[in-house]
Amino acid sequence: MSDELKQVTHIDNVRLGDDEKSVVIIDQTQLPNRTVYLTLRTAQEVYDAIKLLQVRGAPAIGICAGYGIYALARQWDLDDPAAFAAKFHETAEYLNSSRPTAVNLSWALKRMEGVVTANAGKSVAEILDLLGAECRAIHQEDIEMCRKISEYGLSLIKDGDGVLTHCNAGPLATSRYGTALGPLFLGKEKGMNLHVFADETRPLLQGARLTSYELQKAGIDVTLICDNMASIVMKNGWVQACFVGCDRIAANGDAANKIGTSGVAILAKHYGIPFYVLGPTSTIDLSCPDGDHIPIELRDPSEIREKWYAEPMALPEVKCYNPAFDVTDHSLIAGIVTEKGICRAPYTESLAALFR
Ligand code: MRU
Repeated sequence: MSDELKQVTHIDNVRLGDDEKSVVIIDQTQLPNRTVYLTLRTAQEVYDAIKLLQVRGAPAIGICAGYGIYALARQWDLDDPAAFAAKFHETAEYLNSSRPTAVNLSWALKRMEGVVTANAGKSVAEILDLLGAECRAIHQEDIEMCRKISEYGLSLIKDGDGVLTHCNAGPLATSRYGTALGPLFLGKEKGMNLHVFADETRPLLQGARLTSYELQKAGIDVTLICDNMASIVMKNGWVQACFVGCDRIAANGDAANKIGTSGVAILAKHYGIPFYVLGPTSTIDLSCPDGDHIPIELRDPSEIREKWYAEPMALPEVKCYNPAFDVTDHSLIAGIVTEKGICRAPYTESLAALFR
């Protein structure tokens, strides 16, 4: 693997601080212009980092929350296991309220809480050691899942293909390789020539700021387009597949991802291009029957009116609707690529089979 490729795919976007009482993240809001690392030491700092998208991408926020709650618990001066468990639960609820859509956040916090519950008879010191092992396992498993997803995803495309992606589902959003971008990095590693069209992804520009940055740095042929250019690029015959990540997949295969994803899927259907959703099984929520039950985060209107502009581009009193995610109907999805294989319709059966 070339050094450039390794620098991108093996980036340390989230890690436990050396003192095990803090979490160190790359501040994704400052990319691509500055690479700044932040050290998070308080519950409020972890909450804000997730809420403000300094750390973002479904798997990455799960990893950050796992490390975060462990680092916070290491700071508490509590010897009584019952008092420790109560504070742990309260802190998990607080961190979980930072963003509602990506199920990986609650999934990781539930895993951490499960360690506390299952070891109620042990001392706080013993529980802390087990929590340290659990958050490291969450991270390590994600690295392995991303690698497998990359391999399955790569089996869906061939040398010379064009792939369109939306938002950012690369190493910054996960751990090594990423999900939707994983096959592209792996293809590069194997010497394939792939052409990627990255939607800029309004309003927060994850495609421009993060996806085109990661791909360009890795030496992959990437073309940045505005979201409203996807149709012409598809019509020109430049796209053979769409690869996107996901924040929560319901039991019937409906998949929530960054706002605008469902529009890409509708266009892809029109042009006869297969549309694939790539994500780890930690993003599948079988307790959620369909997309109508996925909570959609609404964000600050200022992200539409004024963020990124030298001066506001709309009157302050103009109404804005700013949902951060939308749901792609399962009927538009050609396959859901997980670390356990590629699920096809009917998803109610193929997704459930992953957990048997
Ligand atoms: O609001 P964001 O930037 O956290 O949204 C991220 C996405 O929609 C990603 O596509 C998704 O989390 C998958 S990341 C592997």
